[in-house]
Amino acid sequence: MNGKVYLVGAGPGDPDLLTLKALRLLRSVDVVLYDDLVAPEILQLIPATTRAQNVGKRCGAKSMRQAEINFLLVTLAGSGLRVMRLKSGDPLIFGRAGEEIEALRKSNIEHEIVPGITSALGAAASVGIPLTHREMASTLVLTTGQRAPGHEDLDWARIASSEATLVIYMPGHDYAGLSARLVAAGFAAETPCALISQATTSRQRVHISTVSLLHRAPFVATPTLLVVGDVVKFADRMAWDEGFFSPINELKTVASGALAGTVTHEEFSA
Ligand SMILES: C[S@@+](CC[C@H](N)C(=O)[O-])C[C@H]1O[C@@H](n2cnc3c(N)ncnc32)[C@H](O)[C@@H]1O
Repeated sequence: MNGKVYLVGAGPGDPDLLTLKALRLLRSVDVVLYDDLVAPEILQLIPATTRAQNVGKRCGAKSMRQAEINFLLVTLAGSGLRVMRLKSGDPLIFGRAGEEIEALRKSNIEHEIVPGITSALGAAASVGIPLTHREMASTLVLTTGQRAPGHEDLDWARIASSEATLVIYMPGHDYAGLSARLVAAGFAAETPCALISQATTSRQRVHISTVSLLHRAPFVATPTLLVVGDVVKFADRMAWDEGFFSPINELKTVASGALAGTVTHEEFSA
């Protein structure tokens, strides 16, 4: 008898952002195979009696190849177990779910996708950035700073010329390189951007800057996202009004909102 695989989004980190369905399944499946970006706050919700395995790529351990993860999913479900494949954010956004779904279909394993709040939405909400705006952003582009080997990077120039908000997943730590790439693509030097680290967790940090000053961003812990576009001007306005639109000379640290994360910003004019 075959079991079933649930491809589940864990959301960006805050356990309150898990869906009810994800939580119910988390408490009832036989096995949880999770990525290392799934926040510790979410992993704590896995019952102690449930077999849970990190199949992620970090933790200093050798990464499990995608083919091995696919094999594990097919084998476990094939032996009758109910398996949760738990991914950060939403499983269908930069989550390699497509490859796993293909493997499950090929092996006739029953499966179901349970969406989660992707980190761009969680981060934008926690910083108060409207990703679209009637007057300045009619398009939202989710892209990645890192493509699979052999695949060209997206031509950001096409985005720079439109009224779009760009959210860069996996931006890396080469902020100077990112800044140069954005300027070369045609983004105006004064375009605001927000570097958001560990969004929605108690460790959240936010650095507000501009495309040309991005190279001065402090090193922040991964996972991080970069939001680029005029809408960043609205960041955290409610939680943090003071001085946001006035130039300041040095980085400033401000406690932010209920999560007491950290916000720093660079000068830019509105
Ligand atoms: C492999 S992708 C997975 C994306 C995920 N499926 C989603 O929908 O958010 C990993 C990237 O997601 C982003 N990310 C995930 N969780 C995040 C968080 N809490 N704060 C900021 N960025 C996050 C980072 O850019 C990270 O490098």
